Amino acid sequence: MATYLVTGASSGIGEGLVRALVARGDRVWGLARRSDRLSELATVLGPERFGFFRCDVARQDEVDAVKGALDHEGIRPEVVILNAGINPERLGGDFSIREFEQVVRVNLLGALTWVDFFLPRFRLAGRGQFVGISSLAAFRGDGRWVGYCASKAALTRAFEALRGRHAAEGVTFTTIHLGAVVTGMGVESRSFFRLERDEAVRRILRAADRRVDSITIPRPLRLAVELMRLIPDRHFSRMVGATFGTAPQRRRSNAGSVELQ
Ligand SMILES: NC(=O)c1ccc[n+]([C@@H]2O[C@H](COP(=O)([O-])OP(=O)(O)OC[C@H]3O[C@@H](n4cnc5c(N)ncnc54)[C@H](OP(=O)(O)O)[C@@H]3O)[C@@H](O)[C@H]2O)c1
Repeated sequence: MATYLVTGASSGIGEGLVRALVARGDRVWGLARRSDRLSELATVLGPERFGFFRCDVARQDEVDAVKGALDHEGIRPEVVILNAGINPERLGGDFSIREFEQVVRVNLLGALTWVDFFLPRFRLAGRGQFVGISSLAAFRGDGRWVGYCASKAALTRAFEALRGRHAAEGVTFTTIHLGAVVTGMGVESRSFFRLERDEAVRRILRAADRRVDSITIPRPLRLAVELMRLIPDRHFSRMVGATFGTAPQRRRSNAGSVELQ
């Protein structure tokens, strides 16, 4: 039995991870903004198995309050799963730096702030694991999602660098590059490789238990993504949009040139 902390525990993959971990006997702490959902989960799973803190990981004051509470209550997870994520972008809108900033605050900084907090403790203990829930979007900019691709690519690179830096200290950085899953942000995807939530959760936990450095789920998609690097960006974005949903539309600009929107 181990103690886990899972961000984004109120729905989707995070909720699935919580349920699976509790079912196999682990103690789990969850973070998210919707405390009503976390509270329902605690009622179902039992408060002695699942505890939670309401926390917007993009808000420094809330993050600091939870860090204080974790210390105060002596909660010391051995595995921290950084799963909270958003992808609000939709094609057709203009690029928005505010939206980009919010995506980075949640998907990147909202993950790395927990590395900042737990890493010194893990190094002292000589063990501990971070599991970063990244995405296939980390491997290639995709015209549908500017902030999402950039935030996941940065998370993947940060984990690579941290892994290299702390390799000899007993701290594991596991990066999960997920393809489409039938949950929150993946429900609209038409990917042939789309996984049901519980299957995705099973594969994530198997990779985490094996302490792998980095994995793509499902595996064959990594090769497919590498091969697709041969396709020019403009064609790639139209192709994935047409295949998996929300394809870029062509429109005529004021200057008369054709643009993607
Ligand atoms: N589904 C897919 O196809 C897919 C594919 C590749 C990667 N992923 C990654 O998998 C992770 C989970 O995705 P999902 O599909 O399960 O999404 P989801 O169902 O929308 O769940 C997202 C979770 O993140 C939490 N969250 C969002 N913003 C937050 C914030 N500011 N502070 C704290 N928690 C926040 C949400 O809780 P509250 O709203 O209660 O805060 C929720 O529990 C994400 O990192 C996503 O990028 C998903």
